[in-house]
Amino acid sequence: MEKMSCKVCVTGGSGYIGSYLVKKLLQKGYTVHTTLRNMGDHAKVGLLQSLPNAETRLKLFQADIYNPDEFEEAIKECEFVFHVATPLHHTEGFQYKNTIEAAIAGAKSIAMSCIKSGSVRRLIYTATVMAASPLTDDGSSFKDSMDESCWTPPNLSLPYTNSFVEDYTDSKTLAEKEILSFGNNNNGGFEVVTLACGLVGGDALLSYTPASVAVLIAQLTDNPYHYQLLRFLEESLGKIPIIHIDDVCEAHIFCMEKPSIHGRYLCTNSYISSAEITDYYQKNHPQFDIKPEYLNGPKRKIKWGSTKLIEEGFEYKYDTSMILDDSIKCGRKMGDLQ
Ligand SMILES: NC(=O)c1ccc[n+]([C@@H]2O[C@H](COP(=O)([O-])OP(=O)(O)OC[C@H]3O[C@@H](n4cnc5c(N)ncnc54)[C@H](OP(=O)(O)O)[C@@H]3O)[C@@H](O)[C@H]2O)c1
Repeated sequence: MEKMSCKVCVTGGSGYIGSYLVKKLLQKGYTVHTTLRNMGDHAKVGLLQSLPNAETRLKLFQADIYNPDEFEEAIKECEFVFHVATPLHHTEGFQYKNTIEAAIAGAKSIAMSCIKSGSVRRLIYTATVMAASPLTDDGSSFKDSMDESCWTPPNLSLPYTNSFVEDYTDSKTLAEKEILSFGNNNNGGFEVVTLACGLVGGDALLSYTPASVAVLIAQLTDNPYHYQLLRFLEESLGKIPIIHIDDVCEAHIFCMEKPSIHGRYLCTNSYISSAEITDYYQKNHPQFDIKPEYLNGPKRKIKWGSTKLIEEGFEYKYDTSMILDDSIKCGRKMGDLQ
């Protein structure tokens, strides 16, 4: 009864992480407000409305980050807000010149709506490890370990880069800083948590392979664009932090259900090189014909130094092999792998 009356908002409920999170929240008994950009999109609306308990406890709202005030209605009366949505591709014709400006303005406006609501107790932002590079400020070398003290230096020119990953990295880094600023000295009257998640793999509720799963299985699909993204992550982060979708969503809910928590948390259960991923696939899934050149990645000794989330009491349930095996299952289900 208590949970049913607890309203929570998820921005971007029709995406990969958003839809999985909404499903779990409904399963656990919460009443969920979620946003999507286009209520006329029957596939996205249909997916959300078909979730168990959606009929009685899910309410959909139309909201676009390029019109950030639109989120106010969905946030009203909620105790917890998960800001999951992010602009990935720029929409022309608005006051913002790129996705970076739009993401920062969206983060600020959503935090302001939380203040205005008078009901929000905690704002939880789905951040990314791409904002937490262990590279030194001039980009010339790596620190010994990757943890919450790492922030990706601006204007780095890295191998395998392209304008999409550069804008995405900047937009997520600056939006996370904007959100965290509302938590300083309890400015907004609510707690702020940022969960910087690794590359997410595993199952999906969507009808297509999510982009992050496609990147995780790039050596199996032999897709040069996805493999380039994998290598970009490796060049930026030393190795590739990966996590299972189920752990990602459980970590979000853990951060909501704790009586008190605030600040920045990295959220990843495996820190692995692209060559090690290839090696795992070769040894455990020999039916795939994998190009030997995918074994030629860097072998760096950087350590995973983040323990904050575990110290708070969170337990990861999915290890490296479960993340990779479930990503293969997802690729097969969607028809991208044999
Ligand atoms: N997947 C990963 O590996 C990973 C790792 C770390 C962090 N993250 C973060 O997790 C979040 C979700 O990512 P995802 O992997 O689930 O990607 P996704 O499936 O592409 O979802 C992106 C979401 O953002 C929404 N969106 C895009 N442009 C928008 C705009 N202008 N206004 C409002 N909403 C907009 C989309 O809504 P519509 O459906 O309405 O288009 C969709 O719900 C993002 O913030 C991402 O940075 C993802």
